[in-house]
Formats: sequence, structure tokens, C-alpha cells
Amino acid sequence: MIEDKNGIWITGASSGIGKAVAIEFARVGTNVCVSSRRVSELQRINEELYDEKLGLNIYPCNVASSANVEQTVKKIFAENQIDCLINNAGITSFKKAELNSIQEINDIISTNLLGSIYAIKYVLPHFIEKGNGTIINILSVVTKKIFKNSSAYAASKMGLLGYTNSLREEVRKYNIRIINIIPGATDTSMWSSEVRKLNSENMIKPEDIAQLIVRLYLQKGNMVTEEILVRPITGDLN
Ligand SMILES: NC(=O)c1ccc[n+]([C@@H]2O[C@H](COP(=O)([O-])OP(=O)(O)OC[C@H]3O[C@@H](n4cnc5c(N)ncnc54)[C@H](OP(=O)(O)O)[C@@H]3O)[C@@H](O)[C@H]2O)c1
Repeated sequence: MIEDKNGIWITGASSGIGKAVAIEFARVGTNVCVSSRRVSELQRINEELYDEKLGLNIYPCNVASSANVEQTVKKIFAENQIDCLINNAGITSFKKAELNSIQEINDIISTNLLGSIYAIKYVLPHFIEKGNGTIINILSVVTKKIFKNSSAYAASKMGLLGYTNSLREEVRKYNIRIINIIPGATDTSMWSSEVRKLNSENMIKPEDIAQLIVRLYLQKGNMVTEEILVRPITGDLN
């Protein structure tokens, strides 16, 4: 069971995996703080949860802005007990490297890599002070296998893998767990509607990742699952 003093902050919770994770944590009784840029979508989730008498605490945040992340962390930690950060906000472009604009490349790196690093940077002092905490990163199968048309995305996810693998060695002594989730193709709006229509049956459901994450968060004792790779049973899409 979740203890009263526990709460999570999840970035990019307005759709897909983040939304499913937020809902799953709320259903097991966790205090859930959610962020994303589209506040109306976060409010819509609360409307969906109304009949279950559940609700998420909404803190709008664009993770690509370090100032916005700093302010949001201040507010969340002043108003909640948080012992878990889930770095989920992410974007991609599925284009050949030479066709990606500088803006697209900047957006992917700023959101997926820098955004996660900013969140970690501002949350970490709170976890160190408390002497415990969990950081869960939603990485991608691109950290395990080479795909075309994903160069900036692969760089962002490999970058976060490297950053957190190094960080993990620094923070073990503070009882801080770092868990890297490495999903294969998941049925979310990150993919075009054509791809989803054709492949939905062979994609992971965000709700299944959400259940896995709650289980990993709840693992007790001195064991931590540091990295976990999940794929559709049928394998990768390409
Ligand atoms: N779908 C897959 O096959 C797959 C596989 C492996 C890993 N992942 C990873 O899973 C994570 C979630 O993606 P998804 O598949 O669930 O796609 P999604 O449905 O498009 O969700 C992406 C989420 O990130 C948020 N976001 C984007 N830019 C943001 C920013 N600058 N600041 C704050 N929030 C931002 C979006 O909210 P707003 O637009 O409201 O800000 C949205 O809630 C990503 O990190 C992705 O790389 C996905």
C-alpha cells in the first residue's frame, strides 16, 4: 500500500503513457502531481476521474524552460510530500536527420534531455535532504537498438541514460533509486494515426506500462530495478 507521506510528480501527463501512469498511481491511493503544457487536457483527466472520486493536482509546466521547472518544483514541494519524480515528457519527429530543422532538433533535446535534467536538478536537493527518493525516466528502445529517422530523439534518450547512470552512482548513498524504463512501440499520439491504425494490435498499451511502473515504485527492501526493457510480444515495428 502507498503511505500517506508519499506522492509523485509526473511530467507530460496530459496524454499517452504519462496520463496512464498518473491515473494508475491515483487509483492505488498516491498523491499525484501532474504537469504538461496543455492544462485543458490535464483538467479533462480530472473530469474522467470524477466518478471514481479521484483527482490529480495540476501544475502547468513546460519542462524545456529551466525557470519554469524551478518555479514548478518550488510550488509542488511547498504544497505536497513528493518522493518520486517521473520524467516522462517527450517529443519526436520521425524524420531523416537532414530534414530535421534546427528548431525541431532544439525542441527534442530541450524537452527530452534538458527538461528531464532540469527536473532532476531541482528535485534532487529535496530527496537528498529527506534521505530517500525515486527518479523514474521513460527512455526508449532507441537506447538498445538502432532505428532510422530518430537521430535527435536517440541522442536525447541516450543522453538521459548516460546522465542518470552517472548520477545513480552519486546518489546511492542517499537512498535515491534511479529506474530507467525502456519501452518499445507504445500506442500513443506520439505515432501518426495511420501507424496506429495499422499497428495498434502490435503496440504496447500505455496502461500496461503504468501498472509496471507502479509495481517498480512499490518494490520494497534494499533491491532496485535499475533498468527494464519492455517490447510488444511481436517485436519492434520496424
Ligand atoms: N509511444 C512510444 O512508442 C514510446 C516508446 C518509448 C518511449 N516513449 C516515451 O514516452 C514518453 C511519453 O510519450 P507518449 O508516447 O505517451 O506520447 P504523447 O501521448 O505524445 O505524450 C507526450 C507528453 O509529453 C508532454 N510534453 C511534450 N512536450 C512537453 C514540454 N515541453 N513540457 C511538458 N510536457 C511536454 C505532452 O503534453 P503537452 O503537449 O500538454 O505539453 C504529453 O503529455 C516520451 O518521453 C516518449 O519519448 C514513447
